[in-house]
Amino acid sequence: MQAKVLVSRAVFPEVIERLSAHFEVDYNDRDAALPADQLAARLVGKTGAITLLSDRIDAAVLAGAPGLKAVCNVAVGYNNFDLAAITQAGVMATNTPGVLNDTTADMAWALLLASARRIVSADQWVRAGQWQGWKFHDGWFGNDVHHATLGILGMGRIGQAVARRAAGFEMRVLYHNRTPLAADQEAACGAAWVSKETLLRAADFLVLLLPYSPAVHHIIGAAELALMKPTAHLINIARGGIVDDNALIEALQQKRIAGAGLDVFENEPALDPRFLALDNVVLTPHIGSSTRATRLAMALLAADNLIAALGGQRPPNLLNPEVFGR
Ligand code: DGY
Repeated sequence: MQAKVLVSRAVFPEVIERLSAHFEVDYNDRDAALPADQLAARLVGKTGAITLLSDRIDAAVLAGAPGLKAVCNVAVGYNNFDLAAITQAGVMATNTPGVLNDTTADMAWALLLASARRIVSADQWVRAGQWQGWKFHDGWFGNDVHHATLGILGMGRIGQAVARRAAGFEMRVLYHNRTPLAADQEAACGAAWVSKETLLRAADFLVLLLPYSPAVHHIIGAAELALMKPTAHLINIARGGIVDDNALIEALQQKRIAGAGLDVFENEPALDPRFLALDNVVLTPHIGSSTRATRLAMALLAADNLIAALGGQRPPNLLNPEVFGR
């Protein structure tokens, strides 16, 4: 008899096809998260699941699904997982690192450039018919990106991809990570380790790329923003909650920093309405990995993780190796 698995939310036909060669697939083909009670109900009797960021997997959900052996997230971030509870339940958990590095790094740069050169506000102004003719003092002075200092907080694979792109802009690249990179990795992305305080003070563009955990909640708050240059821009492409949104709004309102490019928010999608009134912030709806090719690669990788896990192999992106073979 084939194992039964749940795919909790619409992915791609290719993914369902791949899974169906191995499993009986219960597919929620709507691109809407299942409410928690429905998610729990549909996990009953399942051996595995493909989950999305919108699915909370915790002790309560797991208690109703004792046959579950693997939960495979279609995301590199997994703050929707209570990993301790999943491990305690003896369930394998996986994510999708690697395949989204370049796409997400491109998006960090899109936000950085848009914020530096005020692209979104300028576009809105042109569309509103406000442009009366070219001016030298045109009111649209931005900040130079070339030869500026790029600061990266959280220098994992995506941070390194962001850093490598800075070479074309001839920037100085500084980073802060709990553990500095090996010398050859630093050389490959032309980056130097500095303390967090030095990074905050020196960066013209500060890109946040930390995975979310309670330990980094509000790691950028009023005190950190106060250390930044008044000409600096903050780019958050990592997770809401890393930045104290209230403190950031106040800094942007008072022009204590020049601008921000934000793809993620506290309590998204219910972002603080004060963001909407600011013209020095660029807002995007958590689309860092959103190209078709990358989202497909992520979903196929999650499927491969599930196929390996339920086939007795160690899944390539196992987050809790202590569970394997239990
Ligand atoms: C991730 O993979 O963590 C992204 O935020 C989802 O697009």
